[in-house]
Amino acid sequence: MLIIDKEIFSLFEQTIKNLYGDKELKQIEITIATNEKFGDFQTNFAMMNSKLIGNNPRAIAQAIVNNFVENDVIEKLEIAGPGFINIFLKNDYLGNLLKKSRKEAYDYSFLNRKGDVIIDFSSPNIAKRMHIGHLRSTIIGDAIARVYRFLGYHVVADNHIGDWGTQFGKLIIGYRKWLDKEAYNENPIEELERVYVQFSKESEEHPELEEEARQELKKLQDGDAENFALWKEFIKVSMDEYAKLYGRLDVHFDTFYGESFYHNMMQSVVEELVEKNIAVEDDGAKVVFFPEEDNLFPCIVQKKDGAFLYSTSDIATVKFRKDNYDINKIIYLTDERQQDHFKQFFKITDMLGWNVPKYHIWFGIMRFEDGVFSTRKGNVIRLEQLLDEGKKRAYDIVNEKNPNLSEEEKQNISEVVGVGAIKYADLSQNRQSPIIFEWNKILSFEGNTAPYLQYSYARIQSILRKADEEGKVIDYSKELVIEDKLEKALANHIATFPMAVIKAADTFKPNIIADYLFELAKKFNSFYNNCPILNQDDETLVSRALLAKIAGDTIKDGLSLLGIETLDRM
Ligand code: ARG
Repeated sequence: MLIIDKEIFSLFEQTIKNLYGDKELKQIEITIATNEKFGDFQTNFAMMNSKLIGNNPRAIAQAIVNNFVENDVIEKLEIAGPGFINIFLKNDYLGNLLKKSRKEAYDYSFLNRKGDVIIDFSSPNIAKRMHIGHLRSTIIGDAIARVYRFLGYHVVADNHIGDWGTQFGKLIIGYRKWLDKEAYNENPIEELERVYVQFSKESEEHPELEEEARQELKKLQDGDAENFALWKEFIKVSMDEYAKLYGRLDVHFDTFYGESFYHNMMQSVVEELVEKNIAVEDDGAKVVFFPEEDNLFPCIVQKKDGAFLYSTSDIATVKFRKDNYDINKIIYLTDERQQDHFKQFFKITDMLGWNVPKYHIWFGIMRFEDGVFSTRKGNVIRLEQLLDEGKKRAYDIVNEKNPNLSEEEKQNISEVVGVGAIKYADLSQNRQSPIIFEWNKILSFEGNTAPYLQYSYARIQSILRKADEEGKVIDYSKELVIEDKLEKALANHIATFPMAVIKAADTFKPNIIADYLFELAKKFNSFYNNCPILNQDDETLVSRALLAKIAGDTIKDGLSLLGIETLDRM
């Protein structure tokens, strides 16, 4: 159901029921009209249900219009084209509708919000600093978490950190052979990264190192005390570093169950798979073969030497979650390269009969014009560098626009604007498109960008301050009268905010909110350029200022769903 308002929905529902009784029909959807000539909103209900009702769409639309129930919401209904119904709302009703578009006032109770929505995101592999390749999972996951929370779901944000993979054997060797103690004390994670890269280089010439690393890993997994202590240390060093970045990005987690947390559960998962004949012995390993129509490669769940794999840990993770939560759905965020992995283990958990709704939300990878980032190759931009650069560029602009601000304010504004720009540049794209990394694009402040939205918001706050200075207090109790067509265009758009949020949640696409907000800011700016707010008669001033306030509040709510802050002054 995508509908602006419960009241409008029930008017349609009653009318349809009067006409067609309890016949099974497709839900009515109401969308904003594409052109003001077509009213405020539109529905294609008649076309959608023409077959089910057994009549042509125009006749159905006509029947609805002729028999529409009494109300004081709708000014008029018109039929257009093949059977659209154009809806013109009463102006005072629209004014009130806007006040209802906010979270507190909109009725989201029809959503299936039972249970926990687990969002598995960010999940960096320990002992590497986060680079811009980690940005997408972190901020797309965070935006999805925010959207679900906003709609009233109970969200569990889980950072499934990679703390159990093959990198540990390599790190342990690197640490023992090549660590520069002084450098390590100075900047531990940088030094760990260096020995890791060195391992890769050395192992090209000395392939036997790979085998040594496997043995160290095995020792660790079997509980060797010395390796265990080192492993703990690597985790601590990494988590301290990540905490700084998460703080700067304003990203928060409820749990940090990494892969290692599931280690003890893996043996029994493999046993269950074997018992149920889902996994079979193949050359000493335990392997799941899939039916041909699934078109999936066989999946190893335990190696010949007894070691478990990434898929084993993910299967165990599903089991743990299903046993310990009341799952509404699990949402995983990774880049596109893991699609097969997710298809495989989703299929395996289905074969086990674990009925848990799961979604792999993948995104395109960020790359340079000439290739993929890789810590191993050393061609990365670290997340911290990226944020610093964003801040620096924002600072230059703030400094130029507003030289009189205090240094502290300049610093604060530039952090908010810089980080906001970076997040938005990513979140405003369709997540499945690859991103070619370009500094100028990611840090642009013009057009469809966070700074443009933040400036629009700050501009509104400055108008409200001026109204306040003139003794006009603007709040939601004031009357909103919508007259001008630009007021109306803005008002209609604001009224659809809840629909944009629901759609973003349904499709796991934060860019729907970004598109919505860009349109909102454009509509606000054309309203403001044509309908002056200050120096008007009292009633006009209050009404327009209230419309501006609601637009501003909606920008703020929308940006906060993307994890982006707003400022009252910039
Ligand atoms: N640590 C993994 C990586 O960096 C991502 C983990 C995603 N979550 C999961 N449950 N597999 O590639």
